[in-house]
Amino acid sequence: MNARAHVVCGLLLGLGAGCGDGTSDKTCGQDRPITYEADVAPLVARSCTTCHSSTAIDRRGAPASVNFDTYDACCTNAEHANVHIQEGAMPPAAALPDQDKCVFQAWVDGGLQRN
Ligand code: HEC
Repeated sequence: MNARAHVVCGLLLGLGAGCGDGTSDKTCGQDRPITYEADVAPLVARSCTTCHSSTAIDRRGAPASVNFDTYDACCTNAEHANVHIQEGAMPPAAALPDQDKCVFQAWVDGGLQRN
């Protein structure tokens, strides 16, 4: 983990600029690009798919059309999901940590790389 990049990322998010805008920091302190398989799948498994999954036992009211359990489903909803993540509206219980916000923003900005 590159601590300095993480701090810069957090500051950018604090200013509402989003991380990964332009070419400043697309990796959120990691030494490789953000991908679905390595970064986003674990993030959404941790924070989103208890409600937003085609196999969820209890969706808790999450819309049937909004899932994140596969690459395709995640990509379909990526832009919309990113707005909610950056605003702290999803997950409903509490905003994601800055590092997770950075990862999702960088993934969207980077063109939704799969792996
Ligand atoms: C505890 C269950 C739960 C979790 C966890 C959760 N959501 Fe949701 N989500 C909901 C519910 C309920 C709605 C519908 C009500 C609403 O839009 O606020 C929703 C709606 C949405 C929508 C559609 C909103 C719209 O305007 O139509 C998106 C996109 C979304 N969630 C993304 C996410 C993402 C991304 C995560 C993880 C970072 C996440 N959600 C985690 C319950 C959840």
